[in-house]
Amino acid sequence: MSKKPLKQFLMIPGPTPIPTRILAAMNREMIGHRGPGFSKILGEVIDGLKWAYQTKNDIMVFPCSGTGGLETAVVNTLSAKDKALFVNIGNFGDRWVKIAKAYGVDVIDLKVERGKAADPSVLEAELAKDHDKKIKAVFMQQNETSTGVINDVKSLAEAVHKSHPDALVLVDAVSGLLAADLKSDAWGLDVVVSGSQKAFMVPPGIAAVSMSPKAWKAYEASTLPKHYWDIKTQKKFADKGQTYTTPPESIIFGMHESIKMIKEEGLENIFSRHANNKDIVRNGLRAIGCKLLADDSCASPAVTAIFPPDGVDSEKVRSEIRNRFGVELAPGQGDFKGKLFRIGHLGYVDKLELVATIGALELLFNQLGAKVEIGTGVKAALESIN
Ligand SMILES: Cc1ncc(COP(=O)(O)O)c(C=O)c1O
Repeated sequence: MSKKPLKQFLMIPGPTPIPTRILAAMNREMIGHRGPGFSKILGEVIDGLKWAYQTKNDIMVFPCSGTGGLETAVVNTLSAKDKALFVNIGNFGDRWVKIAKAYGVDVIDLKVERGKAADPSVLEAELAKDHDKKIKAVFMQQNETSTGVINDVKSLAEAVHKSHPDALVLVDAVSGLLAADLKSDAWGLDVVVSGSQKAFMVPPGIAAVSMSPKAWKAYEASTLPKHYWDIKTQKKFADKGQTYTTPPESIIFGMHESIKMIKEEGLENIFSRHANNKDIVRNGLRAIGCKLLADDSCASPAVTAIFPPDGVDSEKVRSEIRNRFGVELAPGQGDFKGKLFRIGHLGYVDKLELVATIGALELLFNQLGAKVEIGTGVKAALESIN
């Protein structure tokens, strides 16, 4: 008899599992992307994105992964040698820094210890050093996927507004949007980037980028080279219910269904579902001797980074749990490669899948040399369900 698991449990922080409703909506013939049928669907997707972003700002959709959205944010707001400050709390902060440097931006890399959130008072102090107000933009991650840390975007944005009222605030919300509250307009966020493959529960394929009126003003002054990523071109087409290039229609159909689903659930319910996922995972894992990279104070509702018990190899955990139980876990990234593993708990992931994952982990930890009483993690996880 084969011991191969029957099912896959995709417990990574993107791409995330896809609900049947969304798969079914994607499973249709292509339609003319310059015709009224597609325009209506794209218009509704963009309206839904505005609802999720809590914004009245323009939102443009690009056929690309999240990184394309990050590059779009840079090339449409800055010019070479412009000074920009990057609040960099992890691998995706590093990526945004690399993009900006590639375009000749004068980068201030405010690198935060990995596993910690950015401290608004440290940002304030850094901004205070810029006496002539040369900093034109401040970039930050809402949620850092590599470390499982969520930033206090509201306070960070406040620090920028107080010290540098003319500077733009740009947010990478690729893995954070919908997992946690992000009030684009109330918090004064000029550019926000998201992707289809995280809490929207849709396959990878589009990035959405918002632009405030202040960001559009910066666009007019920006001289960085751009063509595919030119957001004004994209806006011209969005106004007609189209995208500049051939769109990944299946992904747009999936986003259309996703928007219906998230509106039915409601933002507050979505946020509290993710917050509870975080508690289930953290309490379950702590009960079986795991150390968690992020403190409770900045723990991500979307992903948790976990050090296995002493003597247990994180990569062995990942391969064994995949082979034995069909559970796909994410590896450590950057400095944490081979040292930790990550559990994604965003999007279409339910509580009992998290409990099952913890059950599989406690069984494996025992077999890999750690002494864990079977049932301890599962009990703590079950008791955390609200
Ligand atoms: C916070 C964050 N930013 C940016 C990205 C880059 O997105 P992509 O891999 O879709 O290019 C990711 C992907 O995981 C992410 O988690």
